[in-house]
Amino acid sequence: MTKIVVYYSKYGYTEKYANWIADTLACPCVPLDQVSQIDFSKIKTLILGSSLYAGTMKGSKLLDEHLDKNLIAFSVGLRSPSEAYFTEIIENNFSKEVRDKVHFYQFQGGMNFKELSFIHRLLMRGIKKFTFDKVPVAERDEQFTKMLDCYYESFDFSDRSTIQPLIEQVDTL
Ligand SMILES: Cc1cc2nc3c(=O)[nH]c(=O)nc-3n(C[C@H](O)[C@H](O)[C@H](O)COP(=O)(O)O)c2cc1C
Repeated sequence: MTKIVVYYSKYGYTEKYANWIADTLACPCVPLDQVSQIDFSKIKTLILGSSLYAGTMKGSKLLDEHLDKNLIAFSVGLRSPSEAYFTEIIENNFSKEVRDKVHFYQFQGGMNFKELSFIHRLLMRGIKKFTFDKVPVAERDEQFTKMLDCYYESFDFSDRSTIQPLIEQVDTL
């Protein structure tokens, strides 16, 4: 066993990606709260997945403890993957040592508004009103429009095929 996926997921979207990756790589997949059970001495490649909450990836500090391994990280969020957003997430969540060696990927998840915690519902109502609704209609792409249409119900943009570049990177290590 030389590869492992460790993930944090609150509502199941990151867990889905973590399971897809572990299934493709035929390696174990362990939730972040069970990380103490892992024998890291046998691990050569550590893949950390974490959902984004206000730009923060829970568990990102785990990578600082494993600078001797191949490091892969992925975030799952609502924002469509973009170079500028990647850069911001990496800067805010990883130390310089980790940034210098981690291979980072960003995937899209989803949201089921009714399943959110009270606080998350409150925050997401605010984000819609003060940010999303203010994006001019001409600047909204198809996915953004779909998200706004289904915002208070549920939508899921997760897509197994998007893990392929991460898999190809792991295969080169
Ligand atoms: C309070 C709150 C804050 C969020 N902040 C971000 C964010 O900063 N960037 C982003 O892309 N998605 C953000 N999201 C969307 C979640 O990352 C998305 O719903 C994800 O699929 C959740 O994955 P999980 O179920 O694995 O935790 C936020 C969602 C909530 C409820």
